[in-house]
Amino acid sequence: MKIASRLAQIEESATLAISSKAKAMKAEGIDVVNFGAGEPDFDTPASIKAAAKKALDEGKTKYTPAAGIPELKKAVAGWMKRLYAVEVAPNQVIITVGGKHALANAFLALLEPGEKVLIPAPYWVSYPEQAKLAGGVPVILQTSAADGFRIKPDALRKALSAGVRILVLNTPSNPAGFAFSPAETRAIADVLADFPDTIIFADEIYEKLIFGGRKFESFLKVAPELAGRTIVFNGVAKTFSMTGWRIGWAIGPKDVIDAMGTVQSQMTSNPTSIAQWAAVEALNNPPDDVEAMRKEFEVRGQLMADGLNAIEGVKCLPAEGAFYLFPDVSAHYGRTLGGKKIGGSADFATVLLEKAHVAVVPGEPFGNDRHVRLSFACSRETIAKGLQRMKDLLKK
Ligand SMILES: Cc1ncc(COP(=O)(O)O)c(C=O)c1O
Repeated sequence: MKIASRLAQIEESATLAISSKAKAMKAEGIDVVNFGAGEPDFDTPASIKAAAKKALDEGKTKYTPAAGIPELKKAVAGWMKRLYAVEVAPNQVIITVGGKHALANAFLALLEPGEKVLIPAPYWVSYPEQAKLAGGVPVILQTSAADGFRIKPDALRKALSAGVRILVLNTPSNPAGFAFSPAETRAIADVLADFPDTIIFADEIYEKLIFGGRKFESFLKVAPELAGRTIVFNGVAKTFSMTGWRIGWAIGPKDVIDAMGTVQSQMTSNPTSIAQWAAVEALNNPPDDVEAMRKEFEVRGQLMADGLNAIEGVKCLPAEGAFYLFPDVSAHYGRTLGGKKIGGSADFATVLLEKAHVAVVPGEPFGNDRHVRLSFACSRETIAKGLQRMKDLLKK
């Protein structure tokens, strides 16, 4: 059948693709070490599950307002107030089917055909694809591992000068595991002051996963003067280990949130009712599990970074946030491993999966082919086992 031309340039999510290949191998009985996962390996905390059960028992099983229940909008506003002393009115919040859906709604609500979306690389795979689906033109701003993937103010200024409708910021980062300090975010905001037509998308979904005593502040806290053109994206998936529940949100100026609500009302209607009630509990009474999970991720991140740096030809920055590392493996390009010549990150990931049964995600769809992404959302034993396999395969 003829597929619409708007799909011609859209890629399937690379992260989901590698995960399903690893899962298929596992199903065949192969002992695969999966460093491809984009989700915490912990169960959803008990108090949150109890809230969902209660909602179910109370019959909260019907349509809700398309943009979410007022209780959850209020809970999001309360979260912003408690964590960052940022005042948000509930009508500046929309509840969505995960953070991904919030971003998709916002691109659809804001972009005119051909408008530029500036995306610093490495980036989460969905930003350029969603921007294209909404008729936008992704423009990539390269950063380098040598600078810790920081956005240089001069480079940002130059890129914005070309006329950018939306700048996408994501810290802590998927895939690179960096986390900007509030001062670094402030330096970006200073540049944005000179570009009043640019809207800021601040993806803060990893806000609670931050390591080494670093501090995270919401963009709305760091740059309150830009609130009139900032949209913050977030969700319960990573903080509360609730990826399957599919609850996210966006916070922004009321007119944008209303427009996103119109999109949502025609596309999906409300996010699942009982999942919304579970999210109310998560935000209003965050369980201790959140900090316990963060601490465990911190230990694992360090273990994995140390282990990667002990492998010949692998260079990795420390984990600053989220649960990913993004090592440079390009020293192995040009080699033949397991009978296959390694030309780039896709070959590297394929050989690693097929020959060593270790799943990593190629860096190419994240905007940097010298690197691959590893998730440390898996046990310490799994990390040790996977890294040993990598070491054995990669040794000269
Ligand atoms: C950077 C980033 N933003 C947004 C999301 C969306 O998360 P969800 O749709 O599960 O809430 C993800 C998930 O992997 C992510 O890594």
